Formats: sequence, structure tokens, C-alpha cells
Amino acid sequence: MAIGFLGAGKMAEALLSSLVLDELCEPWEIIVCDISKERRDWMAEQYEVAVTDDAAEVVEECDVLVVAVKPQDVDALLAGVKDQLNEEHLVISIAAGKTLAALQGVIGTKPRLVRVMPNLALSVGEGMSVFCAAENVTEDDKDAAMELFGAAGAVLELPEQNFDAVTALSGSGPAFVAYVLQAMIKAAVALGLPEEDARLLAEQTLIGTAVHLQTTGDDIGEFIQAVASPKGTTAAGLAVLEASDVSTVIDQTLAAAAARSRELSKA
Ligand SMILES: NC(=O)c1ccc[n+]([C@@H]2O[C@H](COP(=O)([O-])OP(=O)(O)OC[C@H]3O[C@@H](n4cnc5c(N)ncnc54)[C@H](OP(=O)(O)O)[C@@H]3O)[C@@H](O)[C@H]2O)c1
Repeated sequence: MAIGFLGAGKMAEALLSSLVLDELCEPWEIIVCDISKERRDWMAEQYEVAVTDDAAEVVEECDVLVVAVKPQDVDALLAGVKDQLNEEHLVISIAAGKTLAALQGVIGTKPRLVRVMPNLALSVGEGMSVFCAAENVTEDDKDAAMELFGAAGAVLELPEQNFDAVTALSGSGPAFVAYVLQAMIKAAVALGLPEEDARLLAEQTLIGTAVHLQTTGDDIGEFIQAVASPKGTTAAGLAVLEASDVSTVIDQTLAAAAARSRELSKA
């Protein structure tokens, strides 16, 4: 399967590096198109893939096309190659806010089309990618999308109507989680821990909690109660959290991100 990347920024590199590392693709099966010479040189040197500044060349050579430019650059890029696109192509767009209908408005309904919302953790093989598919997509296409993004983390198919919530939770989520992490580190430093150690403790606690919950499937409420023995240290801290507005603030944070995603989809 020849794979073409239209745009070779952070997200394209994160996905491409996992594909090569997992040996899902040989470098010679990948062609990367970017307008930046610096990015082309980097990708060629780092991954030994073919590079070009001509999107038409990629569309000519590849049956799977990953659209990985910024949302505002998508329409112009696709308009430039739309006449070349046909039933042989599977187009996979990761552009935030670009709906299947909007993309088909540019490329038509001949190419099969999948929309994916990945996140930045793709770059360490722990991404969360959610996809939805246009009507013309086959089960084999879905399997291909699962396999490609599965090389860099977890993959889930959901209806497109869920994409604003997905964007808020797993797309923007890494920034929200990092924000909380930063606050925990700051609080630990105030208690006297060296910053570097506080960072390790906070990060490992986050990883350990997530892996534990995901591995065991434990009920989250019961897990919290299991850590918090009566009148113990955790209970003392939890009492502060429960008396605070933190739950409302998180509701509002995700709601604001989802609302912005809705706005961008309509732009
Ligand atoms: N970053 C995230 O956490 C995240 C999460 C989910 C989804 N996404 C989506 O992933 C997509 C890529 O994001 P990114 O962060 O990887 O962006 P990025 O780092 O800016 O990469 C895009 C690359 O495409 C190049 N480019 C622009 N127009 C082009 C064209 N017509 N033909 C070929 N190359 C072109 C850009 O060059 P210049 O820099 O010179 O313009 C840049 O090198 C976006 O649509 C974004 O919405 C990102």
C-alpha cells in the first residue's frame, strides 16, 4: 500500500514514524509532500521517505492519502488535486473541524473518505484517534484506518455527530491534563519537593492511574474510595476537591472546547 502524506508537520511525522517503526510500511512505500523545504529535507533524512513539493505527484503515486495540513490550508490543497482523485483513492483527513460534508464539497464523492481526530500523543505511540467514515467507505478501508492509526495508539470509530465532544476530550485533552499536572507540580514544589522530582512523581502518578484503570476496568468511583481510607491523607485532600468547583470548571472547559469545535466546523 503506497501512502502519501499531504503536509509533513508534527502530526504527519508522529504517524509516519510509528508506521515505519512498527514496520507497517517500508519507507519506500511512503511519499511526503510539504511546501517547506526544511520539512522535506528533515523527513527525507530522518525516515528515508520520498519527498516532493508537488501534491499531484503524491496523488498520482499513492492510493492512501493522509491530509495533514492545517485546516485553513485544506481546501486550497485539495482543490488543486481534486480532478486527479477517483474511486481508487482513500483520503484520510486529520484536519480539525473539517467535516466529511465539507471535504466532499471540495473533492466530490468519488474518493473514499475518512475523517480522523487524533491527538498529539501519537508522537509517543500513545495517541487516541477517533474516526468516522463517509458512506462510500468499505470495511477494508476502515480496517486500513484502524491499522494505520493503531500503530500510534488506540483507535475508535464513532459517528461524526460526536466529533465536537471528541475534539474537546481527546483532541484538546492533552493540554487540559498537562495544565492540571502543572498545577500539581507547582503545589508539590510549594510543599518542598525539588521541581524535577515533583515532575517525575506527578507524571508517573498520572500514567500509573490511567494504566491501572484501563487495565483493570475498575469503577472509577470505587477506585477513588479504595485509595482514600477513612480519615486518611487522601480523604483530607478529596474533601477539598469535593467542596470546590473543580467539577463545574471541567464541565465548562470541555463545553467551551466543544463549542469552539462546532464553530470551526461551520466556518
Ligand atoms: N497538533 C495537534 O494536537 C492536532 C490534533 C488533532 C488534529 N490535528 C490536525 O492535524 C493537522 C496537522 O497539524 P500539525 O500540528 O501537524 O500542523 P503543522 O505542524 O503546521 O504541519 C502542517 C505542514 O503542512 C505544510 N503545508 C501547508 N500547506 C501545504 C500545502 N498546500 N501542501 C503541502 N504542505 C503544506 C506546512 O508548511 P508551513 O508550516 O510552511 O505552512 C507544515 O509543514 C491539522 O489540520 C490539525 O487540525 C492536530
